[in-house]
Amino acid sequence: MTVTLPGMSARAGTREKPLGAQSEVPPKREKLELLDTAHELTDFRSFADLGACWGVDGAYTFHAASLCGSELERAVIVDGNLTHLTRERAKEHPRVELVQALLGSRQALDAVGEVDALIMYDILLHQVKPDWDRFLLNWLPHTNALIVFNQNWLKTPRTIRFVDRGVDWYYRNVYVWEDDWNARERLESWFSRHHERDEDGRLERDNHWYWQFGIRPLELIRLLAKNGFELVYMKRHRHAFGRSRPWIVNDGLIFQRAAYPELDIRGRVRARARSLAERTGLLERFRRS
Ligand SMILES: C[S@@+](CC[C@H](N)C(=O)[O-])C[C@H]1O[C@@H](n2cnc3c(N)ncnc32)[C@H](O)[C@@H]1O
Repeated sequence: MTVTLPGMSARAGTREKPLGAQSEVPPKREKLELLDTAHELTDFRSFADLGACWGVDGAYTFHAASLCGSELERAVIVDGNLTHLTRERAKEHPRVELVQALLGSRQALDAVGEVDALIMYDILLHQVKPDWDRFLLNWLPHTNALIVFNQNWLKTPRTIRFVDRGVDWYYRNVYVWEDDWNARERLESWFSRHHERDEDGRLERDNHWYWQFGIRPLELIRLLAKNGFELVYMKRHRHAFGRSRPWIVNDGLIFQRAAYPELDIRGRVRARARSLAERTGLLERFRRS
């Protein structure tokens, strides 16, 4: 795979490995700690880990499951590519379900149903059609808590789509990693194939293996606040991709469904009217009539 998932290759995770084998990528301490904090704050007992597999083979799912212990009701791993080791590990956990599907698809939403928490680690900036913001809104009715770890973007005043800026700009600003696999030629090859379609009919340009969006953290927080989820915890990891890319930060965030959601202007007017009607007895008279 490419730079867009730094250090990650499409080949990783596809080989057959016995249970007990090491994953390509060791679980990150900051991501494990974020789960610990989320469990402390929300006491989740059911959850889905969206995009749980590449490199880590469900490591965060199994950590979250161990936090719940015997109280775990249900855990769901959803991924477009369920790795062999993920499947092997899941066999040891009767309450862990596996769903192979596109993360934004109706099939994924229906299979997960309702869970206490959704884990979204390193997936948000990849989502196109539905784009990251619509993707989030589609998932909100399915949960009361979101545990997000995202490569957030600080370089421009607004959230941007990276590929709109061309291959040179992408290489200079987004290419956080360079190795045999994540080579400039590979990036150029991807750009040259942007008009092609995969077997599901999706444009190569929209491929979720690449970093697609530079998401401004405040836009993410505002979007969720407007839709009834408040930020209850945030930790920023600066220079996550070296000092030459200070505009990309790893943010760990926990959101919970708010008891008293933020209202937009229409909602505030409605709430004021309702409270006035209640205080003046109008509402009671209206109900009786
Ligand atoms: C960068 S890896 C992150 C793995 C793990 N969550 C972590 O934090 O290390 C992204 C994973 O999400 C999956 N993924 C991302 N977007 C997807 C989509 N739209 N549909 C299906 N799978 C997707 C990929 O297959 C991959 O396993």
